Amino acid sequence: MKNLEAIEKRRTFGIIAHPDAGKTTLTEKLLLFGGAIQTAGAVKNNKIKKTATSDFMEIEKQRGISVATSVMAFEYGGKQINILDTPGHKDFAEDTYRTLTAVDSVILVIDCANGVETQTEKLMEVCRMRNTPVIIFVNKMDREGKDAFSLLDEIEEKLGINVRPLTWPIGIGDRFKGVYNIYDKSLNLFSANKTKKAEDVVSISDLDDPMLEELVTETFANELREELDIVEGVYDAFDREKYLSGDVAPVFFGSAVNNFGVQELLDTFIRISPSPRGRETDARFIEPSDNKFSGFVFKIHANLDPKHRDRIAFLRVVSGVFERNKFYHHVRLDKNFKFPNPTSFMAQDKSVIEEAYPGDVVGLYDTGNFKIGDTLTEGENMMFKGIPSFSPEIFMELENLDPMKSKQLDKGIHQLTDEGVAQMFIMQPGNRKIVGTVGQLQFEVINYRLINEYGANCRFAPKNFFKACWITTDNEEQLGSFLRAKSNYVAKDKDDNLVFLAETPFLLQMAEQDYPDITFHKTSEFKLEKA
Ligand code: G4P
Repeated sequence: MKNLEAIEKRRTFGIIAHPDAGKTTLTEKLLLFGGAIQTAGAVKNNKIKKTATSDFMEIEKQRGISVATSVMAFEYGGKQINILDTPGHKDFAEDTYRTLTAVDSVILVIDCANGVETQTEKLMEVCRMRNTPVIIFVNKMDREGKDAFSLLDEIEEKLGINVRPLTWPIGIGDRFKGVYNIYDKSLNLFSANKTKKAEDVVSISDLDDPMLEELVTETFANELREELDIVEGVYDAFDREKYLSGDVAPVFFGSAVNNFGVQELLDTFIRISPSPRGRETDARFIEPSDNKFSGFVFKIHANLDPKHRDRIAFLRVVSGVFERNKFYHHVRLDKNFKFPNPTSFMAQDKSVIEEAYPGDVVGLYDTGNFKIGDTLTEGENMMFKGIPSFSPEIFMELENLDPMKSKQLDKGIHQLTDEGVAQMFIMQPGNRKIVGTVGQLQFEVINYRLINEYGANCRFAPKNFFKACWITTDNEEQLGSFLRAKSNYVAKDKDDNLVFLAETPFLLQMAEQDYPDITFHKTSEFKLEKA
């Protein structure tokens, strides 16, 4: 069974982190170890620079380049590894959330000095929603940081997940000596070196071996023994099943920029991480081993070349085998399409592929037929669930500055929201359009693209909303009185779902109290419950 072999071989994951924790560096090191790139810098140069907050020309350029790093695939240890890139910039967090629907596990990078940061918490919330297995890499151990035990406590408390260290650091910062691999019972001695690949690993099967003193000094040897005693006393033994169900996160310590701890991470990753998993649809659960092809679109890159309105829709294969030039059923449009140039991305190279297997991501050239969340099948009418919208954090009212161009503006904003650049809510009753994003940067991107790609002219007026909550209820009477009382704060999303735009956390809480039969959903994921 070629298909089953291909599934077993694949590992599709994402690396997530609060900006600056070292996601790009770690991605690059994994690619170096995997032989997918030969020199450092290849990924880094593609990163949207932190200083680029208002430079949308730069963003446009980056948008083009970042297609190339959407999926980085390589073979390592007999596995086919697909790393799905997630934008580091916090203003593109929604993109990251959606990409997480297409992975089977994640590696979460934490800076040992900063610990758990705001973006880490948000990303982890998304992982928890679908019980995604998480491995944690505590980075920058060559710098002064928090004590390992306090860091683990902080992770458990703030991220709501149990941890289990699989390596243990000896010292930190200037005193950083290396890490002890608890499972292989080996010691990896640290030397700052940004280019080496192999590491100095010494096997220490007995911690009382006096060689430990020789290698790391008596003080550190004793400290390590004491700390490992505590580790064994405090944390349960590593249980792979608990990791796979998202209940326990194994933790590694290292320094990505120095290639330190990366090998252990990668070697353990291919041993324990899950092969492609199935996905829920509105009809049934689809196993990757199902013979018939199915997949969903989780990301769209549009108008890469403004002269040709081309888009690339990124499709995650869930089951069966995707084949070039074969007709597939686009469920939402109830139409069949074939794809002559499906593309795969291997680090910087892109090439046309003949077939793709569960866990793979295929780039489909599209002329505007796809929206995020669309499903392709071999004929079955079903839609994959769980590709939610999250509440935006910044809201602006879209104002048309050129009445002669209202058609263009309408088309542009619809296409951009299909692509997932922003969400749009239409105030009820009426036609006022509220655009919501997770970052300021998006408005600049939208404005720029509306002018340049659609010839529209608009302005954004800030709105003082704090959150959009999707509302559902069985109590029609209560809904009626809510809609009357809150008419200035009710809108519909693109799929005609009712949304409450709350101005403050307090007002949201009041609404929840005053209308107990109405449920206020923080994401559009409630469709999962509905279907
Ligand atoms: P991000 O993608 O998560 O935003 O982080 P990125 O990899 O770009 O890393 C952020 C900064 O942290 C970079 O420094 C990088 O070199 C540094 N870094 C990554 N891993 C380590 C580590 O293990 N130890 C130390 N000390 N630093 C690390 P930068 O000054 O912003 O960029 P650069 O000019 O050094 O490339």
